[in-house]
Amino acid sequence: MDLWTLSLRILLLPSVLVLCSDLFHSECYTVNGADYRGTQNQTSLDCGKPCLFWNETFQHPYNTLKYPNGEGGLGDHNYCRNPDGDVSPWCYIAEHEDGVYWKYCDIPTCRMPGNLGCFKDHGNPPPLTGITETSNKQTIQTCITMCRRQRYKYAGLESGFACFCGNNADYRKHGETPSTDCNSVCFGDHTQPCGGDGRIILFDSLIGACGGNYTKEASVIYSPDFPDSYGSGKACYWTIQVPGAASIHFNFTFFDIKDSRDMVELLDGYTKQVLVRFDGRNHPSQSFNISLDFVILYFFSDRINHAQGFSLVYKAYKERTMEKPQVSNQTQTELITQTANLSINAARSSKILYVITTSPSRPTGQVPGWTIYALTALLILTLIAILVKALLHLNIKSQRLATTTSLDSCHRGSAGEIWSIFYKPSTSISIFPKKLKGPHDDRNPLVGE
Ligand SMILES: *[C@@H]1O[C@H](CO)[C@@H](O)[C@H](O)[C@H]1NC(C)=O
Ligand SMILES: *[C@@H]1O[C@H](CO)[C@@H](O)[C@H](O)[C@H]1NC(C)=O
Ligand SMILES: *[C@@H]1O[C@H](CO)[C@@H](O)[C@H](O)[C@H]1NC(C)=O
Ligand SMILES: *[C@@H]1O[C@H](CO)[C@@H](O)[C@H](O)[C@H]1NC(C)=O
Ligand SMILES: *[C@@H]1O[C@H](CO)[C@@H](O)[C@H](O)[C@H]1NC(C)=O
Ligand SMILES: *[C@@H]1O[C@H](CO)[C@@H](O)[C@H](O)[C@H]1NC(C)=O
Ligand SMILES: *[C@@H]1O[C@H](CO)[C@@H](O)[C@H](O)[C@H]1NC(C)=O
Repeated sequence: MDLWTLSLRILLLPSVLVLCSDLFHSECYTVNGADYRGTQNQTSLDCGKPCLFWNETFQHPYNTLKYPNGEGGLGDHNYCRNPDGDVSPWCYIAEHEDGVYWKYCDIPTCRMPGNLGCFKDHGNPPPLTGITETSNKQTIQTCITMCRRQRYKYAGLESGFACFCGNNADYRKHGETPSTDCNSVCFGDHTQPCGGDGRIILFDSLIGACGGNYTKEASVIYSPDFPDSYGSGKACYWTIQVPGAASIHFNFTFFDIKDSRDMVELLDGYTKQVLVRFDGRNHPSQSFNISLDFVILYFFSDRINHAQGFSLVYKAYKERTMEKPQVSNQTQTELITQTANLSINAARSSKILYVITTSPSRPTGQVPGWTIYALTALLILTLIAILVKALLHLNIKSQRLATTTSLDSCHRGSAGEIWSIFYKPSTSISIFPKKLKGPHDDRNPLVGE
């Protein structure tokens, strides 16, 4: 195939396009909503507290005076944001730091695809009845990886350190709760939410797989180990083959790749030629169409400089819009130049597809007999954790942190839940001194941006 044929196969889009019409209403593609740029200006749609304007919160560490260039999404508005790498977007609700002066926001539209939600767990039976594991280095992806290896469909996290796997289609049976109930930090990564006490956060176990085959009309593909950072020496292939599609639209809704040797490529599924290539220096700036029904996504990482990776939304279209060349001469020239440049980049890339890696398919999981022992161990660990957390709570964090328990919510009748009463003392534990003034400010993730 010569350069021009190739170049005509790919077409950069003007930025306007209605994509998230059906499956993907999400305004967030990171698990903690650090990418939230929506306009919710109260802590909950259901009688939450109004947020203060970031251009008026000068008595607190996060404000537009300190971050005048829109860092972290701050600006002359009062929308919920997550500028400090917390587990969820939040906002200040009071001028002064006595009492509760900031709160997490419950934003229904801010949930990364593949995060199934936050659910109640009364323990008998738990929402996921496969295997269980606890770890003081738990992250969302360590749990997902374990569940995926054991061929479970779902992974769930609770209390920051417990991981549950299962294929239970009825995981909603005890009811869903607001996302703000699932804001215990993961013990292994304090920027990730790992459920809560009596609250389990559930994920599709395909998130962060290295490779896979996609035939659905629309989906989201996450980099290996997402939301953890992609590790070293990864080489992953995903096939995207949608029968009957005339073109496939791609949008990198999140892109964080550090050096120029870690890269993402899209290849023609038939000829294996590289169509576009992005890396730490060449970020995708727009979404684009590729007029093929078969595209291969390739990701490679070297040994150094890892970052969080990417999320790629694709959607296949049936009609051929490219067959109508109603563009003006000038526009056409522009498009061809753009695509030619892309093709030149592509031609420089010598990566050829050698192997299609496959992720394991998923037969139905078997529940091993030692689950009972694991659950018992979990219960004991949980009790210990409660004690430790309660102590921490009393000694260190007592007054200074915002509480996010259901006490403030107007319609939530949780009094009947023994489980949650039991756990309540520690639900407000969070390791975020960052919103406080003082010596902790240097942990601010915005510094250096
Ligand atoms: C991409 O393809 C879809 C469907 O064919 C079309 O609606 C959209 O306008 C295309 N975008 C561009 C810029 O060609
Ligand atoms: C929040 O936004 C809505 C709509 O933009 C506006 O009507 C309302 O007054 C705002 N509330 C606060 C507290 O700023
Ligand atoms: C903050 O921004 C809002 C919205 O633009 C504006 O109405 C308000 O006056 C600003 N406050 C200050 C102190 O500049
Ligand atoms: C691509 O994704 C970004 C981030 O979610 C969004 O703001 C943008 O509108 C999307 N672009 C298109 C063309 O859908
Ligand atoms: C496009 O170019 C052709 C000749 O190259 C010219 O006849 C035609 O008028 C041009 N159309 C526009 C919209 O500029
Ligand atoms: C393509 O590359 C040329 C030279 O490398 C540059 O002048 C031109 O602006 C580029 N076009 C686009 C659309 O990036
Ligand atoms: C993906 O497709 C390849 C080639 O058709 C196949 O060998 C492989 O088993 C598939 N992988 C999965 C996870 O279905």
